[in-house]
Amino acid sequence: MKILVLGGGAREHAIVKALVRTGTNADQIVVAPGNAGIANDVTCDAGLIMMDPGAVTEYAKNKGFELVIIGPEAPLIEGVADPLREAGIDVFGPSKLAAQLEGSKAFAKQVMAAAGVPTGRAHECTTMEQVESAIDDFGAPYVVKADGLAAGKGVIVTSDRDEALKHAKKFLHLGILVEEFLDGEEVSLFFLADGKNVLALTPAQDFKRAFDNDEGPNTGGMGSYTPLPWLPKGFVDEVRDTIAIPTIRELSNIGAPFVGLLYCGLIVTKAGIRVIEFNARFGDPETQVVLRRLLTPLESLLHKAAAGHLEAAPEPEFSNDVAVAVVVASEGYPDTSAPDRELSGISEAESVEGVEVCVAAAKEVDGKLFANGGRVLSVVALGKDFKHARKHAYEAVAHIKLDGSHFRTDIAAKVAND
Ligand code: AMP
Ligand code: GLY
Repeated sequence: MKILVLGGGAREHAIVKALVRTGTNADQIVVAPGNAGIANDVTCDAGLIMMDPGAVTEYAKNKGFELVIIGPEAPLIEGVADPLREAGIDVFGPSKLAAQLEGSKAFAKQVMAAAGVPTGRAHECTTMEQVESAIDDFGAPYVVKADGLAAGKGVIVTSDRDEALKHAKKFLHLGILVEEFLDGEEVSLFFLADGKNVLALTPAQDFKRAFDNDEGPNTGGMGSYTPLPWLPKGFVDEVRDTIAIPTIRELSNIGAPFVGLLYCGLIVTKAGIRVIEFNARFGDPETQVVLRRLLTPLESLLHKAAAGHLEAAPEPEFSNDVAVAVVVASEGYPDTSAPDRELSGISEAESVEGVEVCVAAAKEVDGKLFANGGRVLSVVALGKDFKHARKHAYEAVAHIKLDGSHFRTDIAAKVAND
């Protein structure tokens, strides 16, 4: 089956690697725009503007793609899935309307309220007076969220009232959501959805803060691991029954059937599981570890979801091995951006047992790689336990050469008993 993958980050690289590992021919896959790392595995086409729904549809039609997988949120929220679907092409990725589940936190709250899905209490605010009264209502720690896409930088959790207000002021033009603070472990759980049915993948944990011990600013994600041995039995079934299915039903009821990846961002509180956010696409860097353990053909799973026939899809199976991903980021990430710098050591890193490198931001100039973004790559290690997977992941990270780069040293440390 000819497959077009839109996007050009480590998530898309992980999707491509998983497609190929589970049986798809690499020559059937094109990634647009892709990046210099992905181009090592499959054809990339940087000429296609993935944010242009008309251009993407023409491209997919003319080149005979049978399945389009939309990786990032931006083209989904732009509505790229809709004309593709109208043209009769199977698309893994929700419509413009359904993607509002990620695009608008207020919309997501409305859907959750209507579906009876457990989430934090929140106030929607459009003025600073409303923000002040909302944060004083909930008290510290304060959780202030921009109600729109802010590249992972729209949320602040702080006990400093002035900092909370400053953040609200900066994003007031997008609308602000002030939420009650939820205390507990975070879990990312992905569901494939075909508009009516869902199939769970396997839970993972993301490390959102920039530095060790969960210090520093929020980022897009600095590492991840799966499975989560500390989760209670029945966790996945409970999330499916109380969160994923009611949400998918509600979206269908309001005429916005969700076809694609429902990302449930959860906190396990003492009072039970709560949703902190939904995303409308695979998470990054959780995808790197979740798909690393997938044994079932990914093409079949995504295609059945896209075609509205998830009931005919095989139950996703995962290896008993564990996976750990460590993100290597450019100097200054996430606060400032570094100039493009030479990047090397990827093949040495991949020579370490069980290791794959998913590239997020790299270009090639005169045969050399240059890092050209904040999160540059994920080193993903598969191992029989977390001790081994971590050892191999960090051994591989040591091979990556990029001036000024940084990474967290504590990914999956607490489950590794070392
Ligand atoms: P979000 O973009 O909504 O996922 O928020 C980014 C990060 O902020 C989450 O991964 C959490 O670590 C944190 N966060 C968001 N909402 C809350 C909340 N209500 N209570 C505690 N932490 C939160
Ligand atoms: N890892 C967080 C996200 O993909 O939004």
